[in-house]
Amino acid sequence: MGAVQGAGVVVTGAGGGIGAALARRFAAEGARVVVNDLDADKAKAVADEIGGTAVPGDASAVVAEARNALGGTVDVYCANAGVGSGGTEAADEKVWALAWDVNVMAHVRAAHQLLPAWLERGSGRFVSTVSAAGLLTMIGAAPYSVTKHGAYAFAEWLSLTYRHRGLKVHAICPQGVRTDMLTATGRLGELVLAPTAIDPEDVAEALLKGIEEDRFLILPHPEAAEYYQARATDPERWLANMNRVQQKWEATP
Ligand SMILES: NC(=O)c1ccc[n+]([C@@H]2O[C@H](COP(=O)([O-])OP(=O)(O)OC[C@H]3O[C@@H](n4cnc5c(N)ncnc54)[C@H](O)[C@@H]3O)[C@@H](O)[C@H]2O)c1
Repeated sequence: MGAVQGAGVVVTGAGGGIGAALARRFAAEGARVVVNDLDADKAKAVADEIGGTAVPGDASAVVAEARNALGGTVDVYCANAGVGSGGTEAADEKVWALAWDVNVMAHVRAAHQLLPAWLERGSGRFVSTVSAAGLLTMIGAAPYSVTKHGAYAFAEWLSLTYRHRGLKVHAICPQGVRTDMLTATGRLGELVLAPTAIDPEDVAEALLKGIEEDRFLILPHPEAAEYYQARATDPERWLANMNRVQQKWEATP
């Protein structure tokens, strides 16, 4: 029997992209799925397609309604909704605030609501769709890079704090994935992300494998492990290499 068969699963930001692929894959594995998205029509379309339940609205406030829809218990919670906020230190304060709210605080608020029941029964699974930008850093996107580091830190903190009490945590850190978010990055995405981009279904496949192996760090692009190691062991060289990419981007018409 599969690891998630019959499980009650919530996926935020599942009206499209990676979230929709996760929802479809969980449903195909026999899970009961709650599909959340800010866009109610998209959430409903995916829920109808997979025989799940749509719970539209902000990802920060999904747990209570999702729990009801699943008969009282959430087994797997995927904090997947995210905003691809680009910009520099000069990005508008509102851009920074939204990035913190969706990319980090929605995870914190969900965990706050989920943990009491999970700790009481001694099991629960929290999946965070972070990004390789949470391990490395995305050229041209300070709010995104900083908040994805925050999301990774929070997932790590949850894992090291509650693993002996039955909590499993997974941090998915892909590089480019062919979704609307990648398209929206325009010229920069074409230069940095598109050449090695994978499909959302590949991310779902990597997550299911990671769940079977109870692995925290899920890297749908395996090469990200080498970059992460390079950053840790030789930060000067890593920064110089990243700056070369920055300069290449600046020089791209
Ligand atoms: N596409 C990539 O290259 C890539 C790479 C690494 C990580 N990610 C991460 O994957 C996750 C999913 O992104 P995607 O590429 O599928 O993007 P996407 O834009 O295709 O989908 C994101 C979905 O989230 C929804 N959403 C946005 N804010 C929300 C909120 N506050 N509450 C509920 N739903 C909300 C949007 O309506 C949209 O349907 C994000 O966290 C993103 O940062 C994406």
